[in-house]
Amino acid sequence: MTPPTKITDTLKLADGNRMPVMGFGTYKIGDQETMNQSIDAAWNAGYRMFDTAMLYRNEDILGPTLHQLGLPREGFFLTSKVAEVVQGYDRTMKAVEGSLKRLQTDYLDLLLVHWPVREHFFDTWKAMEQLKADGKVKSIGVSNYTIAHLELLATQAKEMPVVNQVEYHPYLNQQALFDYDQEKKIVTEAWSPLGRRVVLDNPMLTKMAKHHNKSVAQIVLRWELQHELVTIPKSTHPDRIKENADIFDFDLDIDEMTMIDILNKNERTGNEPEIVYETGKQY
Ligand code: A2P
Repeated sequence: MTPPTKITDTLKLADGNRMPVMGFGTYKIGDQETMNQSIDAAWNAGYRMFDTAMLYRNEDILGPTLHQLGLPREGFFLTSKVAEVVQGYDRTMKAVEGSLKRLQTDYLDLLLVHWPVREHFFDTWKAMEQLKADGKVKSIGVSNYTIAHLELLATQAKEMPVVNQVEYHPYLNQQALFDYDQEKKIVTEAWSPLGRRVVLDNPMLTKMAKHHNKSVAQIVLRWELQHELVTIPKSTHPDRIKENADIFDFDLDIDEMTMIDILNKNERTGNEPEIVYETGKQY
């Protein structure tokens, strides 16, 4: 596949819906003013996908921001995620009503199970399927699922997730999981695509960035796009929000892609999905 040429490009999901190749992450944005400024900057830079979660406790400020900006609902793509504490059939159904209310919308483009939880594993997914059938969400997916979780889900799911959002950056490139997702027509979406900044001072990436007259963040995000991942960088600085969107005017060649691939050291900045699965909560 040829790499996307602009931030508004979309890719087709296995359920037939389309999703932008790049979105704006809102994790840790916790006050209305910062949300307003950030979403405004993101919209002006061309982002049309916004990613939140019940767990971020900011749906209630993202909703008013999108409302105040007067954005046409069909003109943007909204993702939220079901928190661990509300998993289970009834609780998921009810919790999503809350999300819709807080986000001031009557549907989500994409709803993800935020983390796999053993106790409610199949019931939560049943609720996801029902929410899609009810038209409350257009597409359903998961987040932080390993190959084993996806294989287990397949034993009972009526329909499989179309997206798996996982931690992904040069120090954790999840090659095996990505290959599996691809084989099963699941789009892999990268959270913490900049590795919470840990990768930004890598000397090789710094050199490559200089060569392209780009920043390290831009090199890393471009590498993700060229790998056919959906990426959702976050920032509260308008200049960085713009910078992260400005990655459609250069290409990394095969050698450069490989040089970034081999930086992998299976280093997580976030939680280990297997432990969340076992304990039912983040630690
Ligand atoms: P800030 O809001 O201060 O800009 P992640 O990999 O988890 O998405 O996080 C990366 C962190 O790096 C963000 O919280 C953001 O913080 C910061 N960041 C985002 N874009 C850039 C950039 N272009 N250059 C430097 N830091 C960035």
